[in-house]
Amino acid sequence: MTRDEHFKRLEDLAGQAVAITELFKTEPARIANFVITEGPLRADFSKQAISEQARQALLSLAAGCHLEEWRAKLFAGDKVNTSEDRAVLHMALRVVGGSRTVQKEVKAMRKRMADYANAIRDAGKFKNIVHIGIGGSDLGPRLVADAFEATSEPALNLCFAENVDGASVNDAVKGLKPKDTLAIVVSKSFGTQETKMNGEAVRGWLGKYAASNMIAVTANRGRAEDFGISAENIFDFWDWVGGRYSVWSAVGLSLQIAYGPDAFDQFLKGAAAMDMHFRDQPLQENLPVMLAMTGIWNRNVLGYTSQAVIPYSRRIRKFPAFLQQLEMESNGKRITRDGHEAGLTCPIVWGDEGTNGQHAFFQWLHQGTPGAPVDFVAVLKDHENRPAHHAALLANCFAQSEALMLGKPEYKVREELEGHSEIDALAPQKTFPGNRPSTTITLDDLSPFALGHLIALYEHKVFVQGVIWNVNSFDQWGVELGKVLASTILSEMEKGETGDHDPSTAALMELLSAHHSS
Ligand code: F6P
Repeated sequence: MTRDEHFKRLEDLAGQAVAITELFKTEPARIANFVITEGPLRADFSKQAISEQARQALLSLAAGCHLEEWRAKLFAGDKVNTSEDRAVLHMALRVVGGSRTVQKEVKAMRKRMADYANAIRDAGKFKNIVHIGIGGSDLGPRLVADAFEATSEPALNLCFAENVDGASVNDAVKGLKPKDTLAIVVSKSFGTQETKMNGEAVRGWLGKYAASNMIAVTANRGRAEDFGISAENIFDFWDWVGGRYSVWSAVGLSLQIAYGPDAFDQFLKGAAAMDMHFRDQPLQENLPVMLAMTGIWNRNVLGYTSQAVIPYSRRIRKFPAFLQQLEMESNGKRITRDGHEAGLTCPIVWGDEGTNGQHAFFQWLHQGTPGAPVDFVAVLKDHENRPAHHAALLANCFAQSEALMLGKPEYKVREELEGHSEIDALAPQKTFPGNRPSTTITLDDLSPFALGHLIALYEHKVFVQGVIWNVNSFDQWGVELGKVLASTILSEMEKGETGDHDPSTAALMELLSAHHSS
């Protein structure tokens, strides 16, 4: 069957679809077929609007797109990042895959990081870390730092400066003393405007402590040295680690120092366990494959334009922001690997922590048009020693997925409103259409191991979807144009020039210039 024929079949099945609630009645094995458990993570796909037949058809599509071959190439270290001619081996950072040489380099770096982290922790000289980086050099460490708080207290206070907005760096150093602050400049390229400016600002703030209290993490040692970091203070990683996949590398050094090498090691182990699951399990029992193919169904067959992710755990409230980069920078593409129109690819990924979101955008999820499929993520263990809060939190999580699916039919609303003078106007407004799909992912706890498992699950989901859409998930050409124009505009503004711009942009530049000279 060709790819188009697979999609045609899926569309036919969608045309015959019945309500999700009906699927529970007609498919006695639904829970067995639609729930996959791996280590501390259980994913329940049964509330998706996918019949058993459609599930099988999705798996055939995956096989028809040569997913198994692509997966083998990924783990073998083939150059699957074709447009940049690079291998993609973040799994090697978790000691899964990669050549002997790669494994040796990774082990040496991991030891260097752990020794350094232990030395800083033992010496007690530093009280604070300012982690300077943006995008993949920020979102992962930030998410993980919050999540590690569930199980451990940081030995040092960890602050982040990412945005080029001066407020970011000002807030990061507020109340700190240069003497006992370690600044870590993290940039794969060491060419990122925001990071260099923030690095310079923090260097100025460190004053006489700059040489001893500033280190760097990068895949471009030369640029870090040019920036003024001494060679022995640079921690390397490799071009086969994509920025948004880099938290597992020396990019996570701040985490190792603050929370200890053991926690970080468990985090890597959790991801490695998911790598092995993804690599070894057949497609039909494979968690990342099921998560990805569910997304393909919702996006390409049902036509949803966005995907909500709602963590019912404050400690991973930054997961949606992390996933925005992971998914949208990876698969937000319109052209295939071979240069053709790709059709519909990555949906908008968005979300916020539950229950907060319930008091904001859940109205739209329940009754808005067209709504969005939701990934609910919950943690079964109460890490806060607040059993009543935890029970309420999880009750809300479970209730929301149930409400989205069940809805509330108009006849029930009419029964409740019987005798009301405005019943015809009110009843449809109070009706919930239901049949809105969701997946519920539960973690036994929010240990570093479970967190590693969760993040690696989504990393591999992104890979699978990239294979189905036939896009290169590992480049990001779309971020370049804006960067180039920003640097042109900045240099023109510095010289007091207006340059050659469209009338709207030119007027904005003149507005700022007039504001500065007033
Ligand atoms: O602008 C996008 C991007 O290149 C991301 O891919 C990357 O994570 C981020 O910028 C930061 O890049 P770097 O780590 O090289 O500073």
